[in-house]
Amino acid sequence: MKTRICGTGSALPARVVTNDDLSKIMDTSDAWISSRTGIRSRHLAVEETLTDLSEKAALQALEEAGIEPGDLDMILAATLSADKLLPSLSCELQSRLGAVGAVAFDINAACSGFLFALQTADVYIRCGTYRNILVVGGEILSKLMDWQDRSTCVLFGDGAGAAVVRPDEGCGILSSIQGSDGSRGEALLCENRKNNNPYVTNGTELSYVSMDGQEVYKFAVRTVPKAILDAVEKAGFAVDEIDLFLLHQANIRIIESVAKRLKVPLERFPMNLAECGNISAGSVPILLDYVNRRGMLHPGDKVVLAGFGAGLTWGASALTW
Ligand code: COA
Repeated sequence: MKTRICGTGSALPARVVTNDDLSKIMDTSDAWISSRTGIRSRHLAVEETLTDLSEKAALQALEEAGIEPGDLDMILAATLSADKLLPSLSCELQSRLGAVGAVAFDINAACSGFLFALQTADVYIRCGTYRNILVVGGEILSKLMDWQDRSTCVLFGDGAGAAVVRPDEGCGILSSIQGSDGSRGEALLCENRKNNNPYVTNGTELSYVSMDGQEVYKFAVRTVPKAILDAVEKAGFAVDEIDLFLLHQANIRIIESVAKRLKVPLERFPMNLAECGNISAGSVPILLDYVNRRGMLHPGDKVVLAGFGAGLTWGASALTW
């Protein structure tokens, strides 16, 4: 029994903000951002909530899978930027969808979040506990950015993606790799709200995302190729047999470096980061939907999904489509 992705969906906020737009509100340029990252624009939420975007993505995924919200046994939402601390994004989504029979909880593994949620769903399905699981990854990261910090805020975007997974005897997830290294967590950091109880005096200061870009870059280019190779080997494939590598969309230079280390042509690494930027947990499912809707996935294709980011965390899965 395998866990198969039977439907995908995605939703991006209406407002598109180009690098040139950003250069009007901070000291940056299209040349700097695009040459270092490959990002040219991103969608930023103005009217939309993360629940709105996740609902839209989920409905598309359910439609393609041919199931109703009432058929769902479980909703897993990967996010670090839910609309509310309580209730979780997955519970808000359950309510919106009317998925009354589903158990719902969130997973925070930052940019690896969708992979970790998908891998969690895979275990539930292979154990026979649940059959119909909605896995969502989404972020409104723009609310966590320091818009005075040009080295970080230009990299990220908002959006949500979704996948419906079900048991299948034929195709599906063959192997998964996961890893975490909390000792290097300072490299990509955002404090939660400070303790504000009556006995604490330094209560209310807000924190935004801060990043040691070069540390994160080094981590990514060393860790991701190994995770992919391990997942591919565990699945019983050779790396040159893989049709598509769907990587977390953080930076074109990271993706180019991974392709080079794996000795695989860059054409097998589809990208949408030029238009989306880094959407953390939303990045992999939005890219998956992007390639699915464009007919780039064929039955039986060998596909690798890989995520990496804050924690530090990383994950890769190899599957047949
Ligand atoms: N526009 C213009 N200049 C900028 C800028 C911006 N948006 N952001 C930073 N700069 C400046 C810096 O101030 C610095 O100036 P200085 O040399 O005068 O001090 C200069 O550009 C170089 O900065 P540096 O940090 O050395 O650039 P870099 O080549 O390391 O690239 C990143 C920075 C962030 C693009 C790169 O480190 C990276 O992509 N890291 C991975 C980040 C990532 O993907 N994180 C998410 C993973 S989930």
